[in-house]
Amino acid sequence: MAESAAPLLSTLRTIVGEINVLTSDADVAPYVSDWRDRYHGRTRAVVRPGTTAEVAAVVRCCAEHGVPIVPQGGNTGLCGGATPDESFFPLSLGAEGSCTIGGNLSTNAGGTAVLRYGNARELVLGLEVVLADGRVWESLKGLRKDNTGYDVKQLFVGSEGTLGIITAAVVKLFPKPQTSATAFAALADVDAAIVLLGLLRQALGDRLTGFELVSRYCIELTRKEFPAFADPLPGSPWYALIQGEDPASDSPLSAQLEIALGAAIEQQTARDATIAHSAAQADALWALREHITEAQRRDGPNIKHDISLPVSRIPPFLREAQTRLDAAFPGVRYVVFGHLGDGNLHYNLSAPAGVSPVAFIAESSRANRIVYDLVAELGGSFSAEHGIGQLKRDELSRYKPAVEVELMRRIKVALDPGGLLNPGKVV
Ligand code: MLT
Ligand code: ZN
Repeated sequence: MAESAAPLLSTLRTIVGEINVLTSDADVAPYVSDWRDRYHGRTRAVVRPGTTAEVAAVVRCCAEHGVPIVPQGGNTGLCGGATPDESFFPLSLGAEGSCTIGGNLSTNAGGTAVLRYGNARELVLGLEVVLADGRVWESLKGLRKDNTGYDVKQLFVGSEGTLGIITAAVVKLFPKPQTSATAFAALADVDAAIVLLGLLRQALGDRLTGFELVSRYCIELTRKEFPAFADPLPGSPWYALIQGEDPASDSPLSAQLEIALGAAIEQQTARDATIAHSAAQADALWALREHITEAQRRDGPNIKHDISLPVSRIPPFLREAQTRLDAAFPGVRYVVFGHLGDGNLHYNLSAPAGVSPVAFIAESSRANRIVYDLVAELGGSFSAEHGIGQLKRDELSRYKPAVEVELMRRIKVALDPGGLLNPGKVV
């Protein structure tokens, strides 16, 4: 430990207690790598405050010492936003468990029910935030209507800890669904998936809560890594995992879903479909979908793209991207899945057979250029729900209008003039 760090660490121990200032390599290790094990940083200490007052005192103390902070929730992000870099003396504000509400809000997390409920930004009604100078801004009234000038809380949502540290929130609540229905449909192509999405919206309205696209290759890869999973409908190139939910206990939801899928098969939009007849069957279908990311991780390092497009442009994107990528990386494996209802694809690339994954990901920039240039041509976004972190910071300047990047930088300087909050991330 550097001589100069001792007084700061001693004050931090006084604020949060000895046990909540971690400094040994072994204690700190879980906090300085990201979930994908792609980024590895350094920190002198991980500080674990338990209350807003402690967070504020820690931030004030660090500000006085000019010490940067990397706020961290559950450390489950996919862009390295919560991982310290190598060059600073940052402190990680670590939390136990995974995927915290503060992390969800600060990254504006998405997921599989955005179609119905919106992403984190749309679910927040109020926030409490510790600012860069250690002051606490409290706005927890939770009003649906509060049209009093700038909506300051939305600045902090999605800022990935670069503008303040979220310590409390008021979020929108919905009645717990009493009826749910889960189905899996086999499809000839993604155009058919989009037609099916429209049919189901018509049939179920906002009781359609999830519509996930899954490619055949995703299922094969996931079953290779997790052989216990059944193959629900073998032999199609694409699938949709469909979720419906209704707060009413006497809802005709399942029957309506069955009728809609029957009609889709009749008109040859879907090739086949299966409806879960028990909670266990529904869980198994969702587990297959939710294990794709872990299966791909076990398969080896890969190049991830979390893109969004107007839904109607997804089929032309898939056709053109494949043409360009096949030419650049013959044999590349496409691991394509995602939240089709939101126009959000996880367009991930794995190394061709016989090519080492490490050699393949060294080509990330070339692959990213092909994918993101096409996304930009088609009016989409290079980061739909995973944020910017450190992985996509350069893409921000490349694909966002210069005036927008300048506005972001001005906001950063206004709220964190010392540049101490999550340095090197986002802007
Ligand atoms: C998902 O939808 O499963 C996540 O966003 C994770 C991923 O993209 O790998
Ligand atoms: Zn996702």
